[in-house]
Amino acid sequence: MMEKDRISSAMIIMLIILMLKSVNFVSGTENLIDTYCPDNFPLYTSSTSFQKNLKLLMETLSSNIVASNTSFFNNTSTGEGLDKVYGQALCRGDITNSTVCKECIEKASKDLMNRCKSEDAMIWYDVCQVRYSFQMFFSNAVYTGKYPKQNDLEKRVSDPTSFQQVLTYLMNNVSNEAAFNPAKNMFATADIEFSKKKKARIYGLVECTKDISETDCRSCLSSAITELNACCSYREGGIIVSRNCNVRFDLFEFFNASSSVAPLLIFPTSKGGKWKPWMFVLTICGSILIISVLIVFCIACLRQKKAREGDEERTERTLLQELASPKNVAITQEGELISSDQLFMTLATIKAATGNFSDTNKLGHGGFGTVYKGVLPDGNEIAVKRLSRKSWQGLEEFKNEVILIAKLQHKNLVKLLGCVLEGEEKILIYELMSNRSLDQFIFDPFRRPKLDWKTCYGIIGGLAKGLLYLHEESRLKIIHRDLKPNNVLLDHELVAKISDFGMARMFSENQNTANTKRIVGTHGYMAPEYAMEGLFSVKSDVFSFGVIMLEIISGKRNNGFYTTKLAPTLLAHAWRLWNEGNGLEVVDPILLVSCLDSEYEVVLRCVHIALLCVQEDPQHRPTMSNVVVLLGSESMALPQPRQPAFSSGKAIHVEPTASINHSVNESLWSNVTPR
Ligand SMILES: *[C@@H]1O[C@H](CO)[C@@H](O)[C@H](O)[C@H]1NC(C)=O
Ligand SMILES: *[C@@H]1O[C@H](CO)[C@@H](O)[C@H](O)[C@H]1NC(C)=O
Ligand SMILES: *[C@@H]1O[C@H](CO)[C@@H](O)[C@H](O)[C@H]1NC(C)=O
Ligand SMILES: *[C@@H]1O[C@H](CO)[C@@H](O)[C@H](O)[C@H]1NC(C)=O
Ligand SMILES: *[C@@H]1O[C@H](CO)[C@@H](O)[C@H](O)[C@H]1NC(C)=O
Ligand SMILES: *[C@@H]1O[C@H](CO)[C@@H](O)[C@H](O)[C@H]1NC(C)=O
Repeated sequence: MMEKDRISSAMIIMLIILMLKSVNFVSGTENLIDTYCPDNFPLYTSSTSFQKNLKLLMETLSSNIVASNTSFFNNTSTGEGLDKVYGQALCRGDITNSTVCKECIEKASKDLMNRCKSEDAMIWYDVCQVRYSFQMFFSNAVYTGKYPKQNDLEKRVSDPTSFQQVLTYLMNNVSNEAAFNPAKNMFATADIEFSKKKKARIYGLVECTKDISETDCRSCLSSAITELNACCSYREGGIIVSRNCNVRFDLFEFFNASSSVAPLLIFPTSKGGKWKPWMFVLTICGSILIISVLIVFCIACLRQKKAREGDEERTERTLLQELASPKNVAITQEGELISSDQLFMTLATIKAATGNFSDTNKLGHGGFGTVYKGVLPDGNEIAVKRLSRKSWQGLEEFKNEVILIAKLQHKNLVKLLGCVLEGEEKILIYELMSNRSLDQFIFDPFRRPKLDWKTCYGIIGGLAKGLLYLHEESRLKIIHRDLKPNNVLLDHELVAKISDFGMARMFSENQNTANTKRIVGTHGYMAPEYAMEGLFSVKSDVFSFGVIMLEIISGKRNNGFYTTKLAPTLLAHAWRLWNEGNGLEVVDPILLVSCLDSEYEVVLRCVHIALLCVQEDPQHRPTMSNVVVLLGSESMALPQPRQPAFSSGKAIHVEPTASINHSVNESLWSNVTPR
């Protein structure tokens, strides 16, 4: 009796939710979903020709889109030379009413212009999207998934495991249809029942921009579905948007079913689909197993902390499962398995150590969270990195960092002491570096004079050795990918220690280059081939190292270095002075004061090595072992550097070219090897 009542009231509630949501669809076809507006890109200023071109482009797009016959998609460019702007607009495949499409594009374009002054930006609305850039991006697939906030509002489903299976089946089917069925033209929808009893369905939609290839579309969708699974597979709806593809699901028909074919899929169950006695046995055994695992898990939880809200435990569980998943075991195959429990500390300990994360203990605020200072009961000082609470993206970074750093031990790498994973708290604990980070030293007018040449040289050497360890000496070949002065910490003796491995990637022994669809990193330190094409290799870290070296030597930032029209970047500035035979002018005068006369030669040599590291072509850059050898020798001849990247015109302006083959020519540096 009770059971029946409960079911029917649940159904009524479901119905009400469904009705509310449908109402939402009807009135909300022009809802803003998300924007991409990087503040570390060049910004344009008003009444420049770039802005004029952009404005014109935005107007052209909305009229072009309805003129294009088959589908509402258009790419166009306006202007010439450095002020050329490229733009692209797309209406969702189920939108067949050109008025609706045009109005959405117009609204989105205006909105984007109002919200964003970056030279590369994008906006997603419910039924359309608009993108523009100073770079030519057509046909160039790049995956940069975004996670709109509205996902957090979605309710949790009651049976996440089977829900996720059905959802994955649905999304894979529509992805294949969209990418490989020419009739679908990069857009597909479908629905599927996930609960026989309630006749409840999941509705799925995927879409790619129409300028990319079938395989690029499919791999974009795969990445997006992976993220969708991570964020939303236990929710009643979810959406991931990206430059070249979007995916979405919901429990109501959110798309225009009268214009898009949405077949009802059947989830393949074991034959017949009827309940047989052995199935009951299996289910009961399974449940008992799951329950006992849960009990063990809960006991462990309770031991760590008396009471905790059970609601948030999923994040932790998935993370722990992922840490122990075969993928991660494979990573560590050469060594022993990481015993993650040794690393785990309790939230209570960390709260006590940091005065409950008090503001007075705050050291800084970074991309993924806040850093606090703390003291453990044994008197050891620690740095506590508390990842922002709701940052689902931080989960990946977290996993990466814990696994990587736990395996790495080197004088020039910051040491991970432990981590905390409780509820939504994700915390990393490091040894405390009393002199904080390099940027707070080299760019600070008061602290910089404390750095003499000897110390600077030591920092450069330490940094080089730390990187060499990452690239070649640790058993794992690791590319840091986000090397910058903020990520170089200094201990009490001003020894450099590399930190922040959230974006690092591991390479197998004989792999030299990789391509990523997801470009992460910091503008100003990213190598051109990585920023443009997503190609990264050890040589992209070498580039970042070269930039940091020049920053240490000159005391100036590469980012925001706009002294003269002739030299828009620090690299161009150094390159120009070098070619004029005035290499020493690159060096900060304060630093030169601390040099002995005999050291001028070494300083100049460092400028030379830095310029070799930032050359445009990765093949011409030395490896880190070359660099370590060159730094340690005063006599070894150095080749003339070639033109560095980003030294002409804008900070970034390269048309996509055929991909670079890095593996060919290492002979350039073959005579410079350790020992
Ligand atoms: C649009 O396509 C139809 C049929 O494919 C064709 O008859 C018509 O002329 C086209 N219109 C434009 C403006 O190209
Ligand atoms: C965009 O619109 C312009 C003008 O109607 C047209 O010439 C161009 O071919 C369109 N591009 C695409 C990809 O449809
Ligand atoms: C939905 O599809 C129908 C049938 O093609 C069409 O008449 C209607 O305009 C579409 N609605 C929108 C908003 O495009
Ligand atoms: C297209 O949408 C507009 C505004 O929503 C509406 O006035 C018009 O009747 C629609 N046209 C068609 C053909 O459905
Ligand atoms: C998707 O499912 C439909 C219906 O079951 C089926 O006809 C179609 O072949 C499937 N598509 C792919 C690519 O698997
Ligand atoms: C738009 O993209 C298509 C597909 O990549 C390309 O063929 C076309 O030339 C582009 N249009 C413009 C105006 O660049």
